[in-house]
Amino acid sequence: MDTTPVWFMRQAGRSLPEYRALRERHGILDICRTPELAAEATLQPVRRLGVDAAILFSDIVVPLEPMGVDLAIVPGVGPVIESPVRSRRDVDALKPLVPEEGVPYVLEAVRGLAATAGVPLIGFGGAPFTLASYLVEGGPSKNHSKTKAFMYAEPAAWHRLMERLGESVLAYLRAQAAAGAAAVQLFDSWVGELSSEDFRRYVLPSVGRIFDGLADLDVPRIYFGVGTGELLGDMAEAGPDVVGVDWRVPLDEAHRRTGPQVALQGNLDPALCLAPWKVVESRATEILARAPKPGHIFNLGHGVLPETDPSILHRLVELVHMRGAEKLYG
Ligand code: CP3
Repeated sequence: MDTTPVWFMRQAGRSLPEYRALRERHGILDICRTPELAAEATLQPVRRLGVDAAILFSDIVVPLEPMGVDLAIVPGVGPVIESPVRSRRDVDALKPLVPEEGVPYVLEAVRGLAATAGVPLIGFGGAPFTLASYLVEGGPSKNHSKTKAFMYAEPAAWHRLMERLGESVLAYLRAQAAAGAAAVQLFDSWVGELSSEDFRRYVLPSVGRIFDGLADLDVPRIYFGVGTGELLGDMAEAGPDVVGVDWRVPLDEAHRRTGPQVALQGNLDPALCLAPWKVVESRATEILARAPKPGHIFNLGHGVLPETDPSILHRLVELVHMRGAEKLYG
């Protein structure tokens, strides 16, 4: 590409009227499990916004179901787990994911999209800590105290849980790449809860094995979390090609923290997209000025908020393409 590439986390979903229309007819998990519907939801933002990549429409909890987890996604709440994982026995009861058997509909959606999307398709999975946070809490949580209590109280069971989830997520991402995903993103949305020391002890080994296990494939690997300013160096050490950065740390400072061996993705505050265009324009321009050159994928620092006007996102794509080209070649 001859300019800065741009896509948005949660570019599909509730900010788009066409997604809301689809959701009136189908539950979110039904969309995830029906390749034609998942493909339609994936392509909606590509058509409307002009982004440079599609992200598979699914959810991080989708592969947990064939692992034996009884789950629902409750509108306005998030994933809810019927029987939380709170002991070594619960951990051992999780079945390893065999993607072709457990989530054939995901792989079918990826194959179809890889052939027709017209832009690269990003596959994704939830990272072990973030998946564990839903499994242990039983649902969304503000401070993830049950998850951390389990981690501190039963380190052996915790490591087994990280290992089991890590192996399954690795198999899941490899299967998506084999089906045609051009890049993969590991969402560790809530790992910013941890100190660097605890991240290194309780999380880094399993994440490192995921990125190592993808190294022989020719797909860029992105590692993303929220509130991870203090972890950026550790996250780079886990071995991804790209580290996602939220809005709390400017990209030039993030670049110092990760080192030059990884590219950066980010980092406009999603709430800025609710402000007038002039404000969005000036903040986006500032981000481009502070981004590494080359080695920057423009994105928000977290997902698009449901109340966002999609026309702002469309203008943002055009702005990034114009200013990115000036920065790289002007
Ligand atoms: O374009 C896209 O990125 C959409 C595909 C996508 C969804 N979930 C669909 C979805 C992706 C990449 C995800 C990942 C996901 N799911 C993450 C990691 C990304 C992040 O935001 O940090 C997490 C933590 C989850 C768990 C989850 N699922 C949450 C927190 C919610 C929101 C709950 C709510 O209603 O506010 C969900 C539900 C969900 N997943 C929705 C969508 C479009 C909205 C619910 C709906 O349509 O009913």
